Amino acid sequence: MTAHLTPVLSARWGDPEPWTLASYRAAGGYEGLDRALAMAPDDVIGLVKDAGLRGRGGAGFPTGLKWSFIPQLRDGEAPKPGADKPHYLVVNADESEPGTCKDMPLMFATPHTLIEGVIIASYAIRARQAFIYVRGEVLGVQRRLRAAVAEAYAAGYLGKPMGPSGFSLDLVVHGGAGAYICGEETALLDSLEGRRGQPRLRPPFPAVAGLYASPTCVNNVESIASVPAILARGAEWFRTMGSEKSPGFTLYSVSGHVVRPGQYEAALGVTLREMLELAGGVRPGHELKFWTPGGSSTPLLTAEHLDVPLDYEGVAGAGSMLGTKALQIFDDTVCVVRAVLRWLEFYAHESCGKCTPCREGTYWLVRLLRRLEEGEGRVEDLDTLAEVADGVLGKAFCALGDGAASPIQSSLQYFREEYERHVAEGGCPFDPAASMREAPVPGGAR
Ligand SMILES: Cc1cc2nc3c(=O)[nH]c(=O)nc-3n(C[C@H](O)[C@H](O)[C@H](O)COP(=O)(O)O)c2cc1C
Ligand code: SF4
Repeated sequence: MTAHLTPVLSARWGDPEPWTLASYRAAGGYEGLDRALAMAPDDVIGLVKDAGLRGRGGAGFPTGLKWSFIPQLRDGEAPKPGADKPHYLVVNADESEPGTCKDMPLMFATPHTLIEGVIIASYAIRARQAFIYVRGEVLGVQRRLRAAVAEAYAAGYLGKPMGPSGFSLDLVVHGGAGAYICGEETALLDSLEGRRGQPRLRPPFPAVAGLYASPTCVNNVESIASVPAILARGAEWFRTMGSEKSPGFTLYSVSGHVVRPGQYEAALGVTLREMLELAGGVRPGHELKFWTPGGSSTPLLTAEHLDVPLDYEGVAGAGSMLGTKALQIFDDTVCVVRAVLRWLEFYAHESCGKCTPCREGTYWLVRLLRRLEEGEGRVEDLDTLAEVADGVLGKAFCALGDGAASPIQSSLQYFREEYERHVAEGGCPFDPAASMREAPVPGGAR
């Protein structure tokens, strides 16, 4: 059963004090950095491209390709816009997508994996200053990161020249203030600059004019933390896991009605059936009803999708998105309308208000769903829900709006009858307490 597991990022989470520099170095930590510093920066980018690492923040954009977009001054070439300005690496550690819980445990258990990745990535894109923007509420993670950064400074990995080129990097850990929208990369940059976090119009893209209007690469924690292992063990090794287009290992967050919720690290392309085996299955006496492959912003799927490969192409082929690989499992006790209402309440609360389709759309979607749950719904509300969601999807200023429309459209696609029952039976036909009974105990095996 554990054959599906490929622990790399999570391999040391159970070790004694895995967060210390001493334990990280004893396990071969910072060897990837030594290898990187012996290479030319462009060769480091080439290696990450060859490995095929794709961004783990949701969209799956190729990491090496993103690094190559940062303009560089090159002999004999006309300077590209921004090439002569400072370059920045910004790590997106906001992790607020409902159901997603991979970056926080990673930073809490082994912060030096991320710090080593930050130094390698900064070397590759020629950044001398990097930031880790951490979600505001997770003070324990912030403290551990700051302690690890201090250790890295004391050991000379930060703040001092290293390697043949004399590369040196400064790294700041910045705490956010607890807003989901600040995970959107341009809102994050505004927040980091001290402004209210709202998405920016693109172009210009951050690669050309990001932080302080300078070339900036924004990457997810897991993307950057995957880099040291690729440097240390090579692109070919990375490609022994996963599929050709979605290679490598990754962290899946399994939550909800399973026997052992937790973080499970497996090769991309594992199926939900295999993941459920690892997590002890759906809680006894119940059946899988619906699930999200990548958090609440990704269209939900059902039991008919148990054998879909959980990689970017596989999940897209089933009409959803891999997103953050947050597998939220809901059994037959859960009312899909109530679950979708909870998610929409979240999106309405977190909508930054900058654009009308999202600000107004999420407000009205909540009102319609609440009306159905409370027994005041009408049959025509179902079409209104679909229409309002359609007015948000693809028409909002940023992807938060798309994420809010996803659960509406997919739940209507698979569970329209359940919506109709809310109208016919004058309210929610489910017992709200049933989904909470025999709740599983968190802390499952990896
Ligand atoms: C509303 C919203 C919230 C987001 N939250 C996060 C987040 O918490 N962490 C993250 O890495 N990416 C988040 N993203 C995606 C980022 O905008 C960006 O694509 C990502 O950080 C790029 O990193 P990657 O290329 O390494 O995947 C969010 C996007 C949106 C629209
Ligand atoms: S889609 Fe929502 S979160 Fe994004 S800019 Fe518009 S109002 Fe703000």
